[in-house]
Amino acid sequence: MVAAETPIAQVLLQAVNVKKVFGRGDNAVTAVKNIDLSIRRGSMIALKGRSGSGKTTLLNLLAALDQPTEGQVYYDGRVISELPEKQRSTWRRTHLGLVFQAFGLIPLMSAYENVEFGLRIAGSNPALHKERAEQALDWVGMKSRMKHRPPELSGGEQQRVAIARAIAHRPALLLADEPTAELDSRMGLQVIKVFRDLVENLGMTIVMTTHDPGIMEIVDHVIALEDGEIVVEPNV
Ligand SMILES: Nc1ncnc2c1ncn2[C@@H]1O[C@H](COP(=O)(O)OP(=O)(O)OP(=O)(O)O)[C@@H](O)[C@H]1O
Ligand SMILES: [Mg+2]
Repeated sequence: MVAAETPIAQVLLQAVNVKKVFGRGDNAVTAVKNIDLSIRRGSMIALKGRSGSGKTTLLNLLAALDQPTEGQVYYDGRVISELPEKQRSTWRRTHLGLVFQAFGLIPLMSAYENVEFGLRIAGSNPALHKERAEQALDWVGMKSRMKHRPPELSGGEQQRVAIARAIAHRPALLLADEPTAELDSRMGLQVIKVFRDLVENLGMTIVMTTHDPGIMEIVDHVIALEDGEIVVEPNV
């Protein structure tokens, strides 16, 4: 997050008065509301909150996977939330890395092929695919298992392959939904160190949801959600 006086050019991602309601009438669920936030380029942000507090909903709105019922999401000063799906999907492929709560790997492809497939979808230079895929797998400690398919890997190993796929094309923005949920605390911290290096060395901007207090100490800012709203915590 940034202070009100932060120059606009330093803001990569912004949500203005965002609200998301699922369903209608008696079945309507307001998943998030009154969301105003600005995320500075090259910062690392954690989103925390109880189960059902709206973390995944907010992340999906920031990723333009879903559209707000009210309000707008801006990326680099342009509204992305109101673009047609085709343009949103092109934007996602080129600017975004995504790590989902359910990893979304393709079961018939090896770890390497999953990561390489992500590079192809992102349209990155084919001459760099091998090097970038292997490097990303190495960053998360999965290079030695890269020939294995997801069903042959543990949950934590699959999660690390999903992270490698999300970062291999070096997106400007990484949105990760509980990227360390399946990892023990040591491996979780190792992945966060990789994230920190990407922020420091490539200027990547990272927003991730987490329940891990150790990770909240490492990020630049923590945004807390309660019943779909951002709660400002007193500095203690
Ligand atoms: N497609 C949907 N239709 C109806 N309600 C939904 C839908 N998606 C999410 N919700 C509701 O919106 C609220 C926020 O859900 P969300 O998945 O964002 O929570 P979360 O903070 O990510 O929780 P968790 O920590 O369990 O992943 C919940 O009450 C949930 O049931
Ligand atoms: Mg969630």
